[in-house]
Amino acid sequence: MKEKLEKIRQDALAKMEGLGTMDALNEIRVAYLGKKGQLTELLKSMKDVAPEDRPKVGQMVNEARAELEGKLEAKKAELAAKARELQLKSEVIDVTLPARRNRVGHRHPNTIALEEVERIFIGMGYEVVEGPEVEYDYYNFEALNIPANHPAKDEQDTFYINKDIVLRTQTSPVQVRVMEQQKPPIRVIAPGRVFRSDEVDATHSPSFHQIEGLVIDKNITFSDLKGTLQQFAQELFGPETRVKFRPHHFPFTEPSAEVDVSCFKCGGKGCRMCKGSGWIEILGCGMVHPKVLRMSGIDPDVYSGFAFGVGLERIALLKYEIDDMRLLYENDDRFLKQF
Ligand code: DAH
Repeated sequence: MKEKLEKIRQDALAKMEGLGTMDALNEIRVAYLGKKGQLTELLKSMKDVAPEDRPKVGQMVNEARAELEGKLEAKKAELAAKARELQLKSEVIDVTLPARRNRVGHRHPNTIALEEVERIFIGMGYEVVEGPEVEYDYYNFEALNIPANHPAKDEQDTFYINKDIVLRTQTSPVQVRVMEQQKPPIRVIAPGRVFRSDEVDATHSPSFHQIEGLVIDKNITFSDLKGTLQQFAQELFGPETRVKFRPHHFPFTEPSAEVDVSCFKCGGKGCRMCKGSGWIEILGCGMVHPKVLRMSGIDPDVYSGFAFGVGLERIALLKYEIDDMRLLYENDDRFLKQF
């Protein structure tokens, strides 16, 4: 009995030595101290021990039990400490690592150009207004003195919703809406999206943006138009910029002109940017046609005014020297983050 006990004790202690996991530890506890464990079994065979030896043997078994239990507890604490240390090591945070940069978005080149144009005109006392992108044929064409058979209304150019409603092809209809609603003096710019049934290429897109301008008051003359657009061009492209008014035709203005600015890249000498001419076309303008004033409820014998229309993309492409309009719509981050 004594030898048996000693053997069990030695076995158990030896197994505990190399033990590495909580599971293995529990297995040993069950194998030796559990209900059917070796030590428990041994106690059950006490009946075979001579009565006078029983207290002595009993005490020895209890001592062995206490010893093994103590060892198991110590081992358990040791394993728990090891596990905790591993966890701490794996979860360590290096506070000296540089922080990861938060990528902040920024404004699109179109938006930057628009805000620049708005800033210039707000500085001259203009109000910024908007009109609908889905527009009545009446406002987009008719009220701008563009008659039913005008080529601009061709289905090739215009997206029709039905015969009375179109996607606006220009921001000029906002002129009419403003004149119907406001009494002169009127001084507004109207930026917004416009649509034309065009194929996409480096200079065309079925959807682009314009900025319309309208001034109506007593005694507004072509000189006011020239001075205003010269001021605009110089603020936008630099104080050296010169402007040139070329006679042109628009149905809703009379007289009408297209405006060129001296090339801000070469100063007018001629370069790739201005295709050798020294001039770059930037907008259309003119004195608001008396018929347009009258149709919008403004008396052309009392009031006069001027209007102009600028392509926003054109300004952005010129200002940032972008040679393909498609880049503005492709949302390629590598392109956009340069501005
Ligand atoms: N709406 C014209 C276009 O899309 C541009 C324009 C020309 C606007 C002359 C005007 C203007 O206000 O007076 O081509």
